[in-house]
Amino acid sequence: MVELVLIEEDVRGKDAGEGERMSRKYSATEVSEHNSAEDCWLIIQGKVYDVTKYLDDHPGGDQILIAAAGEDATDEFDEAGHSEDARKMMDKYLIGQVDEPSTSSISNSSSLFLYKTLPVVASVLVLSVVVGTVLWRRKRTA
Ligand code: HEM
Repeated sequence: MVELVLIEEDVRGKDAGEGERMSRKYSATEVSEHNSAEDCWLIIQGKVYDVTKYLDDHPGGDQILIAAAGEDATDEFDEAGHSEDARKMMDKYLIGQVDEPSTSSISNSSSLFLYKTLPVVASVLVLSVVVGTVLWRRKRTA
């Protein structure tokens, strides 16, 4: 009987493959709404985990997970020094990834914008000065 339940759980766990689950995107705001012992989601390295069913089994205790519920727990997860086995287990609770662009990609894209527009602006300025000077000289000699 116990075996049957275990097999059933295994089959359910494989409902959606990692690729399919990773294509599900959640905003950080959406994740933050799942912040209780009855509904506990976490963000670890940009991935979203639903650990509600794991709370009672977590060797580090349920309270530490509940305290981080709805938040990015990457630092806490790394600081606990999880084993390779623990990292493999995470896949079972993976439900998707966070879809908001990181601040670094925002700053990258704005510096890319500057990098592309600055030479154009500089060329227009130089050209205006040259044309202006030529016209001014012509006017003076006329
Ligand atoms: C899906 C997410 C997680 C899984 C599957 C998981 C799994 C585990 C496992 C298997 C262990 C036993 C030790 C090991 O094998 O490394 C453990 C210990 C621990 N975990 Fe997690 N964990 C998760 C998330 C977290 C998070 C988010 C935190 C912190 C907020 C945390 C804090 C701890 C702590 C403090 C221990 C105890 C370490 C010790 O007593 O030596 N875990 N976890």
